[in-house]
Amino acid sequence: MDAATAINTLLTPGAGRDPYPAYAALRAAGPVIGQGGAFFVTGYAAVDAVLRDSTMRVYDSALLDEQWDDWRGNKGVELFVDSMLRTNAPHHTSMRRLASGVFTARRVARLREVIEAQVEEALDELAAHREDGVVDVVRHLAYPLPIGVICALLGVPVSDRNLFRRLAEALTAVLEVRFTEAQAVAAHEAAKELEDYFSAMIALRRQEPRDDLVTALAAAHDADGSTLSAGELLGNLALLLVAGFETTTNLLANGIHELATGRVMKNPDKFVEESLRYDSPVQLTERFTSVDTTVAGVGIPAGSEIVLFLGAANRDPDRFPDPDRFDEDRPGNAPLSFGAGAHYCLGAPLARLEAQIALPALVRRFPRMEAAGEPRSRERLTLRGWATLPVSVD
Ligand code: HEM
Repeated sequence: MDAATAINTLLTPGAGRDPYPAYAALRAAGPVIGQGGAFFVTGYAAVDAVLRDSTMRVYDSALLDEQWDDWRGNKGVELFVDSMLRTNAPHHTSMRRLASGVFTARRVARLREVIEAQVEEALDELAAHREDGVVDVVRHLAYPLPIGVICALLGVPVSDRNLFRRLAEALTAVLEVRFTEAQAVAAHEAAKELEDYFSAMIALRRQEPRDDLVTALAAAHDADGSTLSAGELLGNLALLLVAGFETTTNLLANGIHELATGRVMKNPDKFVEESLRYDSPVQLTERFTSVDTTVAGVGIPAGSEIVLFLGAANRDPDRFPDPDRFDEDRPGNAPLSFGAGAHYCLGAPLARLEAQIALPALVRRFPRMEAAGEPRSRERLTLRGWATLPVSVD
């Protein structure tokens, strides 16, 4: 496969089924390949360097204004424009400081008991839904757990879990490289619904504060007294919901797939880290150059789009010897699955904690778990994972 074919393959819907042959073909052509005015990066060092480079911009409102005439009509896009993920320094720096000031290690640690209880509940569900000993572990564990934990974190009643799930799914469809008009319309409707939901919740929490992240973010302020604007508050709450849901589902399902196909977990922390590397739940992200620059020796003009294949960087043989082998004992394992630099995933400690609790609990409860039948891929590339994963748990 040549580089052009590899890029086309990766940009085609369904690429999420198995992107690794196309990544390998692209990497063989070089760590950075330009095509059609955009640049595609597969090398670990190059992806890491771009993510840490402060001259690189994320897709913010100024870029959207340049590139997309009528984006302001689409709530699915508008909602996130004021969030951390779509904001650049210096504004990003202050917003991120406010958010990390309330989404602290202590708050995550306090969720441990909630996660343990939700895992046990999900395992009971798994056992109850066995048919001839077989159950879909995505449906009964990898899917409900992250959304349940985010509900607990935000302070959303568990009874609204299904509503949140529906809205998050509609919103994440437009994170893919290509999406349909119908998906854009569904994302717009979902964003409107979510905005109304959070607006009502913020008003309630302002009257009656609780120990949850909605209350804390609404009250968060800098030393100089500055707070998040109404749009930033809504955008960041919506971001926390979508950023923490399908991503963590994919991490759990990828880990369970390894366990169900005979992989042995010796050390849960290392196993989770290697799962993150081996099958990155987020396979790609993007940056735009604000100045003429050079990445891995390739000149890139100002105003160019750069597609960073995190999933390819994690399989770069120059960084990870024998990269296609799952090996939890890899020394210096530092995958780029949570990104790097200023936008490094704010929820990484929470995602790791969920997997470090859920995977060992699953093995303890069902030590003879085995893959049973063909799993089905979600086929999406940006957020890649399993749609169904039938496992026998007798
Ligand atoms: C396995 C699970 C997860 C993966 C693989 C993941 C991956 C990522 C990646 C790659 C980025 C950086 C994107 C970029 O630089 O363009 C990111 C950012 C972010 N993630 Fe996660 N994430 C996960 C779970 C979570 C969870 C559980 C939360 C919160 C509940 C969360 C919240 C965020 C936020 C708020 C950002 C934006 C940070 C910023 O722009 O400053 N993520 N995540």
